[in-house]
Amino acid sequence: MGIDPGEMHPVCMKNPKFSHIQRPVANVLREELPARVDWLLLDMNVEPRISLYSIDRLASRMTESLLGVFLTVKLNQWSFADQIPNWVEHVQAMGMVRAKAKQLSSNRQEIMIYGLTQKGVRRQSMVRSSAK
Ligand SMILES: C[S@@+](CC[C@H](N)C(=O)[O-])C[C@H]1O[C@@H](n2cnc3c(N)ncnc32)[C@H](O)[C@@H]1O
Repeated sequence: MGIDPGEMHPVCMKNPKFSHIQRPVANVLREELPARVDWLLLDMNVEPRISLYSIDRLASRMTESLLGVFLTVKLNQWSFADQIPNWVEHVQAMGMVRAKAKQLSSNRQEIMIYGLTQKGVRRQSMVRSSAK
């Protein structure tokens, strides 16, 4: 499922497993989301505090199934960089462990904040041990 007021690429729309909510994320009720969500990815060209608030609001419904979150944050102003530790703490407070921030090379004024839930950590351990 994708949430975006814009158009989706035809490749996405042709996929029978994909559905599109064509509205701003703030207008989406948590009840409209699938009962089971494994991963939450967010990449909106909005202010960082709006991105964080949005992911927080949506993830709070997904405590059973969620494995982790990936959040792209635009540093529209370089002064926003001072707040990166607070944003990582915010993601940890959402129940994510091993939360980290990485600068994205494709657009240097952009970072990825990511974290796994406890369930995501257990899955990572299973995948790693089965690969040995
Ligand atoms: C950098 S693009 C990323 C698009 C897509 N994730 C991709 O990888 O191709 C940012 C997207 O955020 C969407 N966007 C902006 N404001 C939004 C909002 N309030 N709610 C949901 N999506 C929003 C825009 O329509 C745009 O498609």
